[in-house]
Amino acid sequence: MSKKRLRSREWYEGANADAFMHRSWMRNLGFPADMFDGRPVIGICNTWSELVSCNGHLDRLAEFVKRGVYEAGGLPIEFHVTPLPEANLRPSAMLLRNLVSMDVEETIRGNPFDGVVLLAGCDKTTPALLMGAASCDLPTILVSGGPMLSGNVRGQTVGSGTSVWRLSESVKGGQITLDEFMDAEAGLTRSVGSCNTMGTASTMALLSEAMGIALPENGAIPAVDGRRFALGQLSGRRIVELVREDLPLSTFLNRRSFENAVRVNAAIGGSTNAVIHLQAIAGRLGFDFALDDWDCLGSGVPTLVDVMPTGRFLMEEFFNAGGLPALLRTLCENGVIDGDAPTCNGRTIRENCLSAQNFNEDVIRPLDNPVVNDGSIVVLRGNLVPGGAVLKRCAASPALMQHRGRVVVFDSLEDYERRILDPELEIDETCIMVLRNCGPKGYPGMPEVGNMGLPPKILARGITDMIRISDARMSGTAYGTILLHAAPEAAAGGPIGLVQTGDFIEVDVQNRRLSLDVSEDELERRRRVTTPKLPEVNAFQRVHVDHVLQADRGCDFEFLVGHRTAGIPAKSH
Ligand code: FES
Repeated sequence: MSKKRLRSREWYEGANADAFMHRSWMRNLGFPADMFDGRPVIGICNTWSELVSCNGHLDRLAEFVKRGVYEAGGLPIEFHVTPLPEANLRPSAMLLRNLVSMDVEETIRGNPFDGVVLLAGCDKTTPALLMGAASCDLPTILVSGGPMLSGNVRGQTVGSGTSVWRLSESVKGGQITLDEFMDAEAGLTRSVGSCNTMGTASTMALLSEAMGIALPENGAIPAVDGRRFALGQLSGRRIVELVREDLPLSTFLNRRSFENAVRVNAAIGGSTNAVIHLQAIAGRLGFDFALDDWDCLGSGVPTLVDVMPTGRFLMEEFFNAGGLPALLRTLCENGVIDGDAPTCNGRTIRENCLSAQNFNEDVIRPLDNPVVNDGSIVVLRGNLVPGGAVLKRCAASPALMQHRGRVVVFDSLEDYERRILDPELEIDETCIMVLRNCGPKGYPGMPEVGNMGLPPKILARGITDMIRISDARMSGTAYGTILLHAAPEAAAGGPIGLVQTGDFIEVDVQNRRLSLDVSEDELERRRRVTTPKLPEVNAFQRVHVDHVLQADRGCDFEFLVGHRTAGIPAKSH
């Protein structure tokens, strides 16, 4: 056990006026005097809010974490941060990810915490909390909210997010009626919890478990399952031990665990948003993790988890099949990941999954029967995207991996919405749709609109995929041959801003090329007469547009990158 002096003693130890005030103004909540006797003080960072329905049970989960902290001899103190509701927040929850990370960082730094438990779930809540906590680097455990119950509409299992995209395309294509579409609203999301598909929330929860900063089974236990609350209690106990053992977050979050995360992401068919979030977290910890690492490290790793949008099942079925421990066992035993990486419960990844079993090989496929042979995220470069663009290969159409097509440009999301329904739009399935001015600065906040729906006249012919390219993101629940995160974005002067309708683009996934068939002279001419469009912004959006990095660097603010710690701030009085 570490003899290191607890950080909280700087607040609560002694007989001077400062310590008196720090203790007195906590005792008015009902804490007895001996709660400040030198026991570890644990911050519980909660993202509960009625605005974030996915995290609507985290107030109850926090009570279980507190039980565990008390049992282990610690003092839990809960605090809340700005809500990040993925489904409601405009223009994009991503716009506030960095703001919430700052909220988390400064709340931890300015208060007498020795360790932190992060309660997150909905998409951006997990990276925002991890980024803020990484900048303080105290002992930290993440407890995810877990996925919502499986959806069911008219006897059919439906997945949150994924089925919305499918159903809305079916309405446009005339395969179902509008009434049938509206019927799905209540049956699709039946309980609190994050999206039950392999969206960004599930991806980030599972990667957190794989990186060792959450206890085993964190990623997949359903939100309303009693075992989710038991996990909270165990996490409360364990964080007190982590403080006593003096094991900061960077013990587990480092290049080694990130390399594992990239491979696990391929195996689960994880979200492209994980690329941006992990880049940002790595930046906060001060180690280099390049965009191309995603392609190099993940290349050849098959997708084994048959969950939507890549596959057929939902997170509840993945949990019942054995969840992440069963998958990790397969990956460890076959040398796909580094099983010796440590985890926050004191054991290695391999030790944690030694006795895990796969109870359903339809859901967690064996290596010789994958969902997709190579599920890695692919990074393409070329004169269109010198900073790169990403493709979730396991959600794309193999027939479109090599394609040259005539471009149809949409200059903004509004332009796309205005023209896509027009039967006179000159477009067919061989065309490539390009959407721009939806990047980190351009929208601002890089919304999840890269999975542009196809024109109705093409859907009506039963065609469900075309190549789409943008400087936007897409929901982890979405699917299709969609090239995202084009960098630099149009608003930052990237070449995607120079493309014109009628140009030709060549996509060559095997050789990782994304080329605009326009001469350098012509591009230079267009550059001279093009002024990148920046949005009208005010208040916090001004800070965002002025400081946000491009997608290939995680969209963090440049002044937040780099390793620092919580330290001991100057006194307030
Ligand atoms: Fe919250 Fe999907 S909208 S996790």
